[in-house]
Amino acid sequence: MDFVLKVTICLTFIVTVLVSAEPVLAKRWPKAGDYELNSSENEDLVKNLPGQPDVDFRHYAGYVTVNEKYGRALFYWFYEAMTRPEDKPLVLWLNGGPGCSSVGYGATQEIGPFIVDTDGRGLKFNPYSWNKEANMLFLESPVGVGFSYSNTTSDYSILGDNFTANDAYAFLHEWFLKFPSYRRRTFYIAGESYAGKYVPELAELIHDRNKDPSLYIDLKGILLGNPETSTADDWRGLVDYAWSHAVISDETHKIISRSCDFNSSDPWSNDDCNDAVGEVLKQYKEIDIYSLYTSVCMSNSMESSDRVMQVMMKHTHKMMPRIMSGYDPCLDDYARAFYNRPDVQKALHVSDGVRIRNWSICNISIFDGWADSNPSVLPIYTKLIEAGLRIWIYSGDTDGRVPVLSTRYSLNALGLSITKAWRPWYHQKQVGGWFQEYAGLTFATVRGAGHAVPIFKPSDSLALFTSFLLGETLPAVR
Ligand SMILES: *[C@@H]1O[C@H](CO)[C@@H](O)[C@H](O)[C@H]1NC(C)=O
Ligand SMILES: *[C@@H]1O[C@H](CO)[C@@H](O)[C@H](O)[C@H]1NC(C)=O
Ligand SMILES: *[C@@H]1O[C@H](CO)[C@@H](O)[C@H](O)[C@H]1NC(C)=O
Ligand SMILES: *[C@@H]1O[C@H](CO)[C@@H](O)[C@H](O)[C@H]1NC(C)=O
Ligand SMILES: *[C@@H]1O[C@H](CO)[C@@H](O)[C@H](O)[C@H]1NC(C)=O
Ligand SMILES: *[C@@H]1O[C@H](CO)[C@@H](O)[C@H](O)[C@H]1NC(C)=O
Repeated sequence: MDFVLKVTICLTFIVTVLVSAEPVLAKRWPKAGDYELNSSENEDLVKNLPGQPDVDFRHYAGYVTVNEKYGRALFYWFYEAMTRPEDKPLVLWLNGGPGCSSVGYGATQEIGPFIVDTDGRGLKFNPYSWNKEANMLFLESPVGVGFSYSNTTSDYSILGDNFTANDAYAFLHEWFLKFPSYRRRTFYIAGESYAGKYVPELAELIHDRNKDPSLYIDLKGILLGNPETSTADDWRGLVDYAWSHAVISDETHKIISRSCDFNSSDPWSNDDCNDAVGEVLKQYKEIDIYSLYTSVCMSNSMESSDRVMQVMMKHTHKMMPRIMSGYDPCLDDYARAFYNRPDVQKALHVSDGVRIRNWSICNISIFDGWADSNPSVLPIYTKLIEAGLRIWIYSGDTDGRVPVLSTRYSLNALGLSITKAWRPWYHQKQVGGWFQEYAGLTFATVRGAGHAVPIFKPSDSLALFTSFLLGETLPAVR
């Protein structure tokens, strides 16, 4: 695909211009009285969400118009921190796909305070919710994902990384108008899987636009989980991991080593490579690629579109195969039942509860039609490190989709110097995983966790998130 090549060339020539006298608006916590905190008057406040456990914090959901002319609106769900929200940072969470919902995955399966219950009727409280430590904002992005939409059909044909970053950026500024007390709050962006592209891309946009003081957003860092990072390294890691975890044979792996040039713009034009990688994908269809050692969902109610999601591959010549993010399609069923309820949509300010919107956890036509995908965000890492942003990457080590090897290959290519050598980190007296600190970046594994790490290791994940926010080394003693 030509754009892959073009983007690579463009990125190579990106010049990192760091303006030393960067204009800075007051970088501080808002003091009481700085802003009117009339959050209870905010019309997006969620009051009667069916099946919601009782909680002491406020949460808000609704649409933010990102483009009036074309009629584009993005849906968000925002949970204030459980305690003292005014003292805590703001964190935006993004899921990937492309085409998957941060509300369906992140908010109600992984790290939000309410997890969709197995009967699709209600919600259960998540004691490891990340809103213990931060104000958590979940965004369904781009248009066409979840409840987010555009009134201009032609928008859907140009969705890609660039479009997504620009709309997410516009979203933030509009959202701050609804929530002025967060306008100058310390801000982080986090996400997993394909958001490995979204998060650095949005961070770069914020960093660049911050040169205009009126647009300043106090972005301090990014946090990435099993992130897609560099197409060539990601593929190499995927096949090596499949081999080293006994998913494929020595013979298949040898053919791949001999015939696949993942650096090329079209590795699949080599038939041997194409067939051997096809064999990897075939074996992964037998198990859950996102979590090698857990069972697959056998639910009959599972819709065919979701079954496809398990190992969603585009594997034709001239097209880099991509695989959607996602974990347990059974969980996805519960989410679909819940979000398509008229009373739920009404409570979340999505619809009037009569003409309901059709919600699904991932939108395959968005995945299929993705127009531009950055082949490597490593040059953006370099730029953000130079800008002094905190970058942490964690990796569930039982994920076969964006395996720990892919991330290690990418980080090796980055060539940062090691400041703290590989060692275990501990949580509740057990090894949570291993970590290594580089000049400007922290890398940590999460032992025994699949692709969507917090689903498997909620308590460890919260501990890691807390260390990230504090900018502290992970606990290195038992
Ligand atoms: C907050 O309330 C005050 C007084 O009611 C009002 O002047 C102000 O515009 C409100 N701010 C927001 C953001 O709604
Ligand atoms: C999209 O169109 C509908 C129907 O005309 C309208 O109610 C809605 O406000 C529009 N959305 C945006 C973001 O302009
Ligand atoms: C990215 O999107 C913005 C806004 O939609 C547009 O102005 C810009 O030209 C796009 N850049 C590229 C490289 O396509
Ligand atoms: C592919 O690129 C990576 C990093 O850019 C490099 O380390 C590796 O040697 C390259 N492999 C081949 C086969 O060219
Ligand atoms: C909702 O969307 C899915 C896939 O996008 C489609 O299969 C289904 O028929 C739609 N349902 C309704 C009620 O429109
Ligand atoms: C999925 O995306 C397509 C555009 O690719 C859009 O037309 C459709 O409405 C979306 N489906 C849902 C259920 O939102």
